[in-house]
Amino acid sequence: LASVEFDLTKVEAGQQVTIKWRGKPLFIRNRTGKEIAEAIKDDNADLRDPQTDEERHKPGKAQWLILIGTCTHLGCVPTFGGGEYGGWFCPCHGSHYDTSGRIRKGPAPTNLAVPDYAFLSDTKVKVG
Ligand code: FES
Repeated sequence: LASVEFDLTKVEAGQQVTIKWRGKPLFIRNRTGKEIAEAIKDDNADLRDPQTDEERHKPGKAQWLILIGTCTHLGCVPTFGGGEYGGWFCPCHGSHYDTSGRIRKGPAPTNLAVPDYAFLSDTKVKVG
């Protein structure tokens, strides 16, 4: 199956790039310190699909969140910066995801999925 390499220097802090991977959108987000802090603060919240923020990124790379960009409800593409938890919001039926991509409210059953990926260097990742 196809893998893709991506140069992270293209993504500024607080920005997100969406690329296509295996026919799906892939979000590559360079999180701000505030986004990371908000995600960690909610590690012990009542989560539908419990995962700590640490489990959602590579060790020591908390700023980089790489997610499959399809809502786990019925597959719409959520947008960043909406919803009640500061992360992604899916306009189709109103699922709210936090800054870790964890589902917090609405019909989606699980967190935005993290694909298999690896850092090839500090500035390059290989997804898939
Ligand atoms: Fe996202 Fe239904 S597809 S809430």
